[in-house]
Amino acid sequence: MTETAEFEIKKIERSRISEVDFNNIPFGKVYADHMFVADFENGEWKNMRIEPYGDLSISPANATLHYGQSVFEGLKAYKNKAGEILIFRPEANAKRMIVSAERMCIPPISEEFFMSALTALLKVDSAWVPGQENTSLYIRPVVFADDPYVGIRPSETYKFLIFTAPVGAYYSEPVNVKIETKYTRAVAGGVGYAKTAGNYAASLYPALQAQKEGYHQLIWTDGQTHEFVEEAGTMNLLFLINDTLVTAPTGDSILNGITRDSVLTLAKDWGMKVEEKRLSVKELEAALKAGEVKEAFGAGTAATIAKIHKIGYNGVDYVLPEEKPLSDKLFDTLDKIKLGEIEDTHGWVYKV
Ligand code: COI
Repeated sequence: MTETAEFEIKKIERSRISEVDFNNIPFGKVYADHMFVADFENGEWKNMRIEPYGDLSISPANATLHYGQSVFEGLKAYKNKAGEILIFRPEANAKRMIVSAERMCIPPISEEFFMSALTALLKVDSAWVPGQENTSLYIRPVVFADDPYVGIRPSETYKFLIFTAPVGAYYSEPVNVKIETKYTRAVAGGVGYAKTAGNYAASLYPALQAQKEGYHQLIWTDGQTHEFVEEAGTMNLLFLINDTLVTAPTGDSILNGITRDSVLTLAKDWGMKVEEKRLSVKELEAALKAGEVKEAFGAGTAATIAKIHKIGYNGVDYVLPEEKPLSDKLFDTLDKIKLGEIEDTHGWVYKV
């Protein structure tokens, strides 16, 4: 079977959709009826199929369970007023998954394969794309090592899955973040730029400590000196310092966020000053003290534009102004582009 062949489709006998309250959807707890599955064996992707969403059977020795050889993506589909299904920048996710896969020694999913699997799945489960305000169908492609082998080497078998979940907001209120200068999320030469399981696992313990102090997330700093701001793990970070939108350049320790890129593109379209530069904690602290940080927000697929309420550093909490016109404008513009309500000048929207 080639990667672009028709997929086998085994449909669910009875849909679960009537059990879902689409006006009150939690993030990432309810899943649509079907999933896409493919197996990598003997050097090729095969057995491509769409089947009812359900549990998998894996060996206790499964390589991913022990060594985390896996990559994933996150993207969203929207339903517009005409009932059409639109996906935001899926080709960018396909490209990023190839980059992540290379770093994790995982056979790549070609962009063509990714797009055809995604399109086929979304056609089968189109009824699951919610149309209510601030909702979407979150799409989670994942590739993981499937060898039942406890030795260390790249797996010889893998599974590629795509499953979906109708979702509401990831953060339901403006977030409080704390600058982390003890623990490290990612280091130069490491895997911070790859969307891989371990990056998220590594963030849990430090984030939990911060959550006990009332913060939602951390602002990670560079692993070597802890002097420069990086990302937040669940999202990239952007700061409006006076009239300049500042964000860390992506590199080998920061995820190349698609929402981040969309924000920078829009800000440049609007003639704003945009700087991708290494922002030192000292410079940020001085700007916070001087009231020069007019807004700060996270940008991510799940997080969308997550406004930051306060930033904690060295025992001091800096509360940002309540009015956040840039964050609001970005959220609103991206929302309208995603729904096809304003012109998509960058070719970001893919119609299923
Ligand atoms: C996404 O934004 O899609 C992610 O994968 C981040 C995660 C916090 C859900």
